[in-house]
Amino acid sequence: YIEQVKAREIFDSRGNPTVEADVILSDGTLGRAEVPSGASTGELEAVELRDGGSRLQGKGVSKAVNNVNTEINDALKGVSPFNQGNVDQIMIDLDGTKNKARLGANAILGVSMATARAAANYQKVPLYRYLGGTDLELPQTFHNVINGGEHADNGIDMQEFMITPVERTSFRDGFEKIANTYHTLKKVIEAAGYQSGLGDEGGFAPDLKSSEEALQMLHEAIEKAGYTPGKEIAIAFDAAASYFYNTETKQYDFEGTHKSADEMSQYYEDLLNQFPEIISIEDPFSEDDWDNFEKVTAKMGDKVQIVADDPVCTNPELITKAIKNGMANSILIKLNQIGTVTETLEAIRLARKNGYTTMMSHRSGETGDTFIADFTVATNAAQLKSGAPARSERVEKYNQLLRIEEELGDNARLARFPNNIDFD
Ligand code: PGA
Ligand code: ZN
Repeated sequence: YIEQVKAREIFDSRGNPTVEADVILSDGTLGRAEVPSGASTGELEAVELRDGGSRLQGKGVSKAVNNVNTEINDALKGVSPFNQGNVDQIMIDLDGTKNKARLGANAILGVSMATARAAANYQKVPLYRYLGGTDLELPQTFHNVINGGEHADNGIDMQEFMITPVERTSFRDGFEKIANTYHTLKKVIEAAGYQSGLGDEGGFAPDLKSSEEALQMLHEAIEKAGYTPGKEIAIAFDAAASYFYNTETKQYDFEGTHKSADEMSQYYEDLLNQFPEIISIEDPFSEDDWDNFEKVTAKMGDKVQIVADDPVCTNPELITKAIKNGMANSILIKLNQIGTVTETLEAIRLARKNGYTTMMSHRSGETGDTFIADFTVATNAAQLKSGAPARSERVEKYNQLLRIEEELGDNARLARFPNNIDFD
């Protein structure tokens, strides 16, 4: 049983405070987890409790830490760590709000993840085994190699430009192709006279003039690295369009233009024609603009994966509504958007049961914790985005997948993209 739960304030990859939680079992077994934090957060995400005031730019998490050390500790003492659903429900009930605003989703998630770790450690099995079945697969990974939007100070309004290895003989083989392309991209960026400094997710953040130029550079880097765009390495992007939507004019203020939703839709279609190697588009419209999500899915959903992130925030209720409306064909999954392991499992189950693909995701503010690597394998989520093949807080997730592939040995299967969309 759980003997003690405690937390402390640590720092994330952007130098901001975050929660680390420890769950200690009666025999002394420790489970520990660190909580990530987003920059382009959805309106309906569970609440990340921050102290406010002047200390650490108001971003301190001492209240969340204190909630773990007092109320949550009292409520979980003596509870079995092997019933994750029960542990999470106790914290949800204790919090008492719909969005975990009282205790903080950062406090609750830290304990939720640390509980799973403690249980796995107690059973002396890897986390992916404890949480998963036996028929496990290594995900298709999406690597954000050019950072824009809220993740970099440059002129690109789309947030993430990703590359993904569609043809690979093993996870390692795919990752090597990505690393080669990343290094080639650096040369392409420098040859064009731009700086090759990095953004929040380890991708380059050159001051390009447009998203189209970013896609052109990816195309060129894939070819120069010796691969065929679309065949060996494909492209995906996250527009994170809520961040360039103008709620007053109801237009998209995009890279010096003001576009209606129809014009944005036409723009995406033109990009697909120009770069047929684009296989996945996340958040093409603002989080409130469900109508246009639906329209774009009806129009292009048989050719490209349309991923919903900000509109649904890993929330089972919102995902149910999204499925009913056919507003995408894929759901982005972020543990800290909803705040417990159990609810995240429910989000994944719902999506997959209804023929939606799932993409697990890191946050732009990350830690060294590799929980999502194991969690992706355990849930057969099949897709993972965890940033560039650079900066340890990103690469550690991929390194963990390399370890898992080695452990699975001959049983290691690769998730194939797409799992349910009929692409050419
Ligand atoms: P965030 O970005 O972690 O800053 O929210 C990730 C995303 O939008 O997918
Ligand atoms: Zn997103």
